[in-house]
This record gives sequence, C-alpha cells and structure tokens, in this order.
Amino acid sequence: MLLFKLLFDTFFLILSVDALQHETNLSATNPPGAACAKACGELSSEFGPNLHYSNDRNFTVWDAKQQEVESACHVEPSTSQDVSKILSILVNHWCRFAVKGGGHARNPDDSVSVGGVTIDMHLMKSLQVAPDRKTVILGSGHVLYTMYHGLEAFNLTTIGGRVADVGLGGYALGGGISNLSPKYGLAVDNIFEYEDGKIVLPNATIVHVSEQQNSDLYFALRGGMNNFGIVTRYTMRAVPQEMILGGDKTYSSNQRDIIAHSAFELTTIWKNDTDMAFSYGYSFDQASDNFSLSFTHAYARPVLHPAPFTQLETIPYESSTVRIDRMSNLSMEGASHTPSGSRNLFATMTYHPSAKMDRRIMEIMAEEIKPIRQLAGFFPNVIFQPLYGGVIRAGHERGGNALGINADGPLTICLLTVMWNDRQDDDAVNAFVQRWIERAQTATVQSGSHHRWLYINYAYHQQDPFSGYGEHNKQKLIDVQRVIDRRGVFTSRGLCRGYFKLL
Ligand SMILES: Cc1cc2nc3c(=O)[nH]c(=O)nc-3n(C[C@H](O)[C@H](O)[C@H](O)COP(=O)(O)OP(=O)(O)OC[C@H]3O[C@@H](n4cnc5c(N)ncnc54)[C@H](O)[C@@H]3O)c2cc1C
Ligand SMILES: *[C@@H]1O[C@H](CO)[C@@H](O)[C@H](O)[C@H]1NC(C)=O
Ligand SMILES: *[C@@H]1O[C@H](CO)[C@@H](O)[C@H](O)[C@H]1NC(C)=O
Ligand SMILES: *[C@@H]1O[C@H](CO)[C@@H](O)[C@H](O)[C@H]1NC(C)=O
Ligand SMILES: *[C@@H]1O[C@H](CO)[C@@H](O)[C@H](O)[C@H]1NC(C)=O
Ligand SMILES: *[C@@H]1O[C@H](CO)[C@@H](O)[C@H](O)[C@H]1NC(C)=O
Ligand SMILES: *[C@@H]1O[C@H](CO)[C@@H](O)[C@H](O)[C@H]1NC(C)=O
Ligand SMILES: *[C@@H]1O[C@H](CO)[C@@H](O)[C@H](O)[C@H]1NC(C)=O
Repeated sequence: MLLFKLLFDTFFLILSVDALQHETNLSATNPPGAACAKACGELSSEFGPNLHYSNDRNFTVWDAKQQEVESACHVEPSTSQDVSKILSILVNHWCRFAVKGGGHARNPDDSVSVGGVTIDMHLMKSLQVAPDRKTVILGSGHVLYTMYHGLEAFNLTTIGGRVADVGLGGYALGGGISNLSPKYGLAVDNIFEYEDGKIVLPNATIVHVSEQQNSDLYFALRGGMNNFGIVTRYTMRAVPQEMILGGDKTYSSNQRDIIAHSAFELTTIWKNDTDMAFSYGYSFDQASDNFSLSFTHAYARPVLHPAPFTQLETIPYESSTVRIDRMSNLSMEGASHTPSGSRNLFATMTYHPSAKMDRRIMEIMAEEIKPIRQLAGFFPNVIFQPLYGGVIRAGHERGGNALGINADGPLTICLLTVMWNDRQDDDAVNAFVQRWIERAQTATVQSGSHHRWLYINYAYHQQDPFSGYGEHNKQKLIDVQRVIDRRGVFTSRGLCRGYFKLL
C-alpha cells in the first residue's frame, strides 16, 4: 500500500514539473475563455462521462445565485489521483476553477466557477472505519447525511453539523460547529489526526498531512479554508453513537426575553454539561408580519428531559419536534428548514454572552428590515449559539488550530441568515446586511462584549475572518500559503479565487 502511494506521488511529481515549465503568464496571452475551452477539451478526453459542458445533469447547489452561474465545464473526480490530474491540467492552461463540496456557499465563484471549471467532489464519498473504531477516513465529497448514515451502520458517529445536505468539505475546512462540540471541539479539532488525511497541493502533488507530517499544513488546514489545495480525504475521530435528543420548539415573539434569559443560563451556568448543545433564532414571518422564535435542542444521550432544559420546558411553546432520534434523521429535519433554491446571505458576530446583547441584535434586525420586509420570499433570521470552553480548549491541542480563539469563558456566535427570491432585490438585501453588521459591531464594541473572532463559514463576503484569527495566526497562514503555492493558484489573483482569500 505504501509503495503504491509512493508510485503515485512520483508520478504526480513529474506532472507538476511539467506544469512549472509553463511559467509564462498564460492569462496575458490567452483570453480566459480560450484557456478554459482548451482545459475542458483535455479534461473531456481524460474524464469522458464525468465531464459535463452544460447543466446536462442534476447539478444543484443550495443558493440560487450560485445555481445561476455558468461554468465552462464541470468535472467529477473519483480519486485523489483524478484531482491531481485535474489540477495539473487547469494550472497548465491557467484556467480558473472552483471546488464544490456540498455547495452551501453563498456567492458566485465560491463553489461554482464563473466561466471556469467547477470541480464537483460528490463522487468521493468513501467511508472506512479503522479496526479500533476510533477513527474514520471520509472522502471529502460526503454531505453530512451520507456521513452520519454511513457511520450509523457501525453504531458510530462523528463531529458533524446540523443540516443533512451541507458538505463535509467546506464545513470541516472552516471550523465545523457540532452538537458534539462542547465535548470534543469543532470538526477541525477532530481531523487530520493520523496519516491518511490527504490533500492535493497547488502544484498537483499529493501529500499526507498530520501533526507529524507537514505540520505547517496541518495547522493551516484547520481553519484556513480553500487557500492551500484540494482536500480529498479527512481522517476524523469516530465516537460510539447513541440515540440522542434533538429537534426544535417554536415560541411566540412574546417569549423573547425569557428565551434570551434561558439561553444565557444554558451558556453560562450549564456549561458544565457537555452533552448539551443548543441554538435559538429570532426570525421575521411575512405571512403574520410578525416575529417568531425557534429553539434547537440537542442532548448527546437518549434522555427526553435532561436537566439543563428544565427551565426551558416551563415556557409555553407553539410547536415541537423534540424527540429521541438518530442524528441522520435529525439532520433531515434541519435540511427541511433550509431548502435550496432561494438567494441567501450570511453574516456573523462574536461576543461575550449577554442576554441584553442578544436582544439588542434582534432589535437591530427588526429595525433594519422595516423598509424591505415585504420583498418576495424575504426571510431574515438571527441565530445565537454558544461556543463553550471545550471548543476553545480543543482548539489549542495538537499544536493549535488556525482559528486562534482565545477567551476565558464561553462566547456567543451570532449568525444572521437572509433568504429572498428575486435578483432585483440583491442590492437592497446587501445594504440591509451591511447595516446589520455595522450596527451589531458598534453595539458589541460599545458594550465591551465584542470578540474579534468571526466564524469563516458564517461570514459575509466583505467581513474579514482571517484578521479575526489574530495577527500571528494570519501571518503564519500567509507564510504557509506562500511556500506551498509559489504561483498563487489559490489566491485572489490566481485560479481559485472564491470564498475567503489570504492573499
Ligand atoms: C443550511 C446551512 C446549515 C449550516 N449548518 C452548519 C452547522 O451546523 N455547523 C457549521 O459549522 N456550519 C454550518 N453551516 C455553514 C457551512 O459549514 C458552510 O456553509 C460550509 O462552507 C458549507 O460547505 P459545503 O461543502 O456544503 O459548501 P461548498 O460551497 O461546496 O464549499 C464551501 C467552500 O469550501 C471549499 N471546499 C469545499 N470542499 C473542499 C475541498 N475538498 N477542498 C478544498 N476546498 C473545498 C469550496 O471551494 C468553497 O469555497 C451551514 C450552512 C448552511 C447553508
Ligand atoms: C497576468 O497578466 C494579466 C494581463 O496582463 C495581468 O492582469 C495579471 O496581473 C498577470 N498575472 C500575474 C500573476 O502576473
Ligand atoms: C435528473 O433526475 C431525474 C429524477 O430523479 C431523472 O429522471 C433524470 O433522468 C435526471 N437527469 C439527468 C440528466 O441525470
Ligand atoms: C449496533 O447496535 C445494535 C443494538 O445494540 C446491535 O444489534 C448491532 O449488532 C450493532 N451493530 C454493529 C455493527 O456493531
Ligand atoms: C452543572 O451545574 C448545574 C447548575 O449549577 C448543577 O445543577 C448540575 O448538577 C451540574 N451538572 C454536572 C453534570 O456537574
Ligand atoms: C406579534 O405577535 C405577538 C405574539 O403573538 C403579539 O402579542 C403581537 O401583538 C404581534 N404584533 C403585531 C404587530 O402583530
Ligand atoms: C429515521 O427515519 C427513518 C426514515 O424516515 C425511519 O424509518 C426511522 O424509523 C427513523 N429512525 C428513528 C429512530 O426514528
Ligand atoms: C510541490 O510543493 C511542495 C510543497 O511546497 C514541495 O514540497 C514539492 O517539492 C513541490 N513539487 C514540485 C514538483 O515542485
């Protein structure tokens, strides 16, 4: 097996030397369309039926803005070697590209290439449980449902998110908040622990990344997103699966203050119970022209009334799906609340927990949506969730991850999500999101509760999550980027420009 891997590495070393001989600036001599037309032609002869010119197959991404994007072609790799071959062809022709995992990013070119090549990872869904059942090797094309469902056959689970159709790819490169995070940390703190984590570097070389091997990259990949190459396999922690408590309750907006207070207590007093996780949201409902609250419960044991939720259970609710179930099923419910096909934006803010600040941020949302609240399909939701000490501690293990979260106590991550229907409303919605960020930032700074870290997977494209990692970590990421990507393939001036770029 080792010999087999070495042979492949040597093979791709040769390919990449060939790529380096084309050091001339091809984009200067070749219009991008022509470069990608040639690249697609070459990919077509290599990949046959796994190369698509137009949307001649059921290709769906979550966000309508990305769904509308036209790529020169789409290619579906099945192995690390395929990914390496694709990358080497694209760099040779200097053709732009984007990598699509679960396709839940929110801006054109994030995961569907505008005019270039979209590399769709969806065929790469291998799942291999280690004999000791403590780790699992997962292809980076999994969505969370296929990962949960696959692991449940072994009575195992791992550190995954709440929504079935979100991709493991983007989720695990940016952080990965999970119901299991209070106990084990973020997804990034539970991957690449052993030697089978694989990444295809910008020069098309396949390398193994772990704490011992390529340790700089091991640091960088735990939060550095798509600035370093294409990840093909993750080795993640596997943990015994039990049925768990999960589901949502909805409440009338009258309960806002008591819910915010309960959330504060769950964040601070109940932080000792690492089986418990929650989030709650305040959203605007067009039909009633009013607000409503929803509270997502999670308890990592099959206990219907766990102690931390006792107070919450005294609050009258309007509907409930809270039950004992498997994570795969619960993730399907998450997906049913977040259907694809709308236009979407996210924005985020982090602060030290405060029920008053939660309410202030809800009010800012309520004030700012007034002029646009009847736009077609408009659905704004502010979601609050705790980042417990277990997450912060896990982030400092194995040399520390790139996120650089430092705090004495728990933090609150606030996420604004906005859905709407029509392109003509894009500017109005963007203006709303920008005002919300500005005012939420001012409010948290003025109250002294602001925290610099921003969760990259929740950030608006004009926010700067890498600065939130701290100067030291940001510089370290930039240094790693420069060394492994001399030509800047994965930078904003290179070929893979989507999502958040270090350079
Ligand atoms: C409905 C919904 C629910 C969510 N729930 C959670 C949650 O519970 N917890 C949480 O932490 N986050 C959550 N998120 C945020 C989510 O983690 C991010 O949106 C994430 O980036 C999505 O990953 P993806 O693979 O689906 O998206 P994609 O759009 O496919 O990818 C996102 C970015 O990652 C890059 N990328 C993907 N795969 C690879 C790869 N193999 N190699 C290199 N680059 C790659 C893409 O190029 C793209 O730039 C949620 C988002 C949505 C929309
Ligand atoms: C390549 O050439 C184009 C067009 O002249 C220029 O805009 C771009 O900055 C150059 N890129 C590099 C990496 O030199
Ligand atoms: C798309 O999906 C539908 C329904 O599953 C199927 O009938 C159709 O053949 C698919 N189209 C392509 C191009 O794969
Ligand atoms: C999973 O657990 C169930 C119930 O305890 C048991 O019947 C089954 O054999 C287990 N499966 C595996 C693969 O361990
Ligand atoms: C956690 O703290 C609460 C409130 O102080 C207490 O009632 C509970 O017993 C504690 N739980 C554990 C597991 O320590
Ligand atoms: C919004 O809903 C609450 C709770 O049902 C109700 O008390 C309030 O009057 C409603 N507000 C408006 C403007 O309809
Ligand atoms: C999960 O969903 C499947 C399909 O809907 C259902 O058959 C199964 O009973 C559910 N599992 C549990 C534990 O409820
Ligand atoms: C590819 O990049 C890696 C990391 O910088 C380097 O170790 C390797 O030698 C490079 N391969 C080639 C062929 O340049």
